Amino acid sequence: MYLDPKWRILTVGDGDLSFSRALLTHHRPRLLEASVYDSEATLLAKYAENELEALRERNIHVHTGLDITDPTSVQSIEKKFDLVIFQFPLIPSFATLDDFERHSADASTNTLNRKLLRQFLIHSFRYLLDEAGPRMCYITSKEVKPYRDWNIETSLNRGLEFPCLGSVPFEYDKFPGYRIRNVNRDRVVPDTESRTFVWGSNPPPELKAALKTTPFLGAAYCEICRVGPFVADEDRSKHLRSKRHRKMQVFEDQWSRYLESAVPI
Ligand SMILES: C[S@@+](CC[C@H](N)C(=O)[O-])C[C@H]1O[C@@H](n2cnc3c(N)ncnc32)[C@H](O)[C@@H]1O
Repeated sequence: MYLDPKWRILTVGDGDLSFSRALLTHHRPRLLEASVYDSEATLLAKYAENELEALRERNIHVHTGLDITDPTSVQSIEKKFDLVIFQFPLIPSFATLDDFERHSADASTNTLNRKLLRQFLIHSFRYLLDEAGPRMCYITSKEVKPYRDWNIETSLNRGLEFPCLGSVPFEYDKFPGYRIRNVNRDRVVPDTESRTFVWGSNPPPELKAALKTTPFLGAAYCEICRVGPFVADEDRSKHLRSKRHRKMQVFEDQWSRYLESAVPI
C-alpha cells in the first residue's frame, strides 16, 4: 500500500482499530484520524482486544458511529484528507429476516455490498477529500468469493467521474499488529490473498507505476466473470451458458437496476 508520509489519512469502518494503530506506528502519516461504524459501547463490547485507548493516548481522533453511507454522519467530519481507506468492507448481517427483506427487495447481499462501496467513494470524494490535495481512496478486499464477485474495479464507479486506477497486492507484513476483524463478532479473519484498489485524480508516479489494471476488458473476454481470452466463438458460448456466468449475470443485472433507480448524484 503506497502511503506518502505527508498525507492526511482517514480510516473508515476499522473494526477493532488495529489497522489504524499499525498504520500510525509503522507508517507515521502527517495526520491520522480513525473511524468505526459501531458506537463506542458496541466496539468495546464486541472486540475484547481493541486499540481505542491506545489511539486516544497518542492523540488520534477516533470517530465512533460513522456510517459512510449517511451524508449527515459523514459531514460530521471535516473535509481535510488526502486519502480515505476502507479495509475489507462488508455490510453487517441483518438482525432478522424481515430486516433483510426490507433492505434487499430486488437485490442480494452482492448488490448491498457494492452499494456500500459506491457510497464510500461518492461520500469520500464529496465530503472528506480536500479539493487541494491528491484526493485518493483505497479499498482493500479479498480475491475470493463472495468479495471478488463484487467486481470492484469495473462496476462500482459506473457513471461517476473518478475512475478506478487499478490495484496492488495488499502486504499484510507491512502492518504488524493488524488483525482483520469479522464484521459481527470477535473473530479474526484469515489473511488470504487480497488487493488494494485505488481511486484518485492525481496519483504519485511511484504508485501509478505499481498499479495493475484488469486484463479482462474487450471482446475476447468476459468482463463480469474475469475470464478469457476466448480463442473461438464456441469457447465464449460455452462460458455464457455456464452456471458461473449465469449467476454473475444475475448480480450484474441487479446492480444495473440499482444504479438506474438510485437517486442521481
Ligand atoms: C469485515 S469487517 C473489517 C473490519 C476492519 N476494517 C478490518 O480490516 O479488520 C467490515 C467492516 O465494515 C464496517 N462497515 C459496514 N458498513 C459500514 C458503514 N455503513 N459505514 C462504515 N463502516 C461500515 C463494519 O463495521 C466492519 O467493521
